Amino acid sequence: MDKSLRKAVIAGNWKMNKTPDEAKAIINEMKPLVADADCDVVLCVPYIDIFAAQEAAAGSNIKIGAENCHWAESGAFTGEVSAPMLKAIGVEYVIIGHSERRQYFGETDETVNKRVRAALDSGLTVILCVGELLDERKKGVTMEVVRSQTKIALQGVSNEELDKIIIAYEPVWAIGTGETATAEQANEVNHAIREVLGEIYCPKCASRVTIQYGGSMNAKNAAELLAQEDVDGGLIGGASLKAEDFSVIVKAASI
Ligand code: 13P
Repeated sequence: MDKSLRKAVIAGNWKMNKTPDEAKAIINEMKPLVADADCDVVLCVPYIDIFAAQEAAAGSNIKIGAENCHWAESGAFTGEVSAPMLKAIGVEYVIIGHSERRQYFGETDETVNKRVRAALDSGLTVILCVGELLDERKKGVTMEVVRSQTKIALQGVSNEELDKIIIAYEPVWAIGTGETATAEQANEVNHAIREVLGEIYCPKCASRVTIQYGGSMNAKNAAELLAQEDVDGGLIGGASLKAEDFSVIVKAASI
């Protein structure tokens, strides 16, 4: 498997942080710091920040994404936002299946699959999150969990559509805890995800898919994680809220 077949993608996930004014300020700070990146740079921001973020990022190499989308095109789904709505305002990326959505908002592998389908139908690039709970890792079922999440999320997704899929392996126990998976653990699971993709599609197709690691990735540990053969980028929470730290991660992915 050749790492050079795929472009590294560093994506920030701001979660429920920042007002539009704060979004503008941090993006203006980030722009010069990431201008020379030799990787794709994406910021997935709260819906309310999308316009401000797009305005601030205009003309730069920072692309703006959303943190979720509903599976229906429109309808009686109070509080939700659809994929065509995101597409209509120029959004390019959307995170689907984040563990916080699964844990706190009742998302299942099946709803994740429906949202992936809707996002692809609208031409969005999906950042699909998979990852095991601490209890699942302790019980030794990490690979089974991640394999099954990946397989179900991608049901009905064609070979050609794989170009619009980025997978983020995010062990739940490493999110926001300061406890990062070791580089070996991250690479091992990312490799297993690539194997599943090889089984569903073909090994050559799998070798082109960007598979990120996420979970307490920061300015200090990014280089080691990103140097792994099967780690093609990062999905960054806390450190994406700090321009300097985020730019160090972007630089680490650009080597
Ligand atoms: P942290 O980087 O804050 O651990 O969050 C990771 C994450 O959930 C990104 O989606």
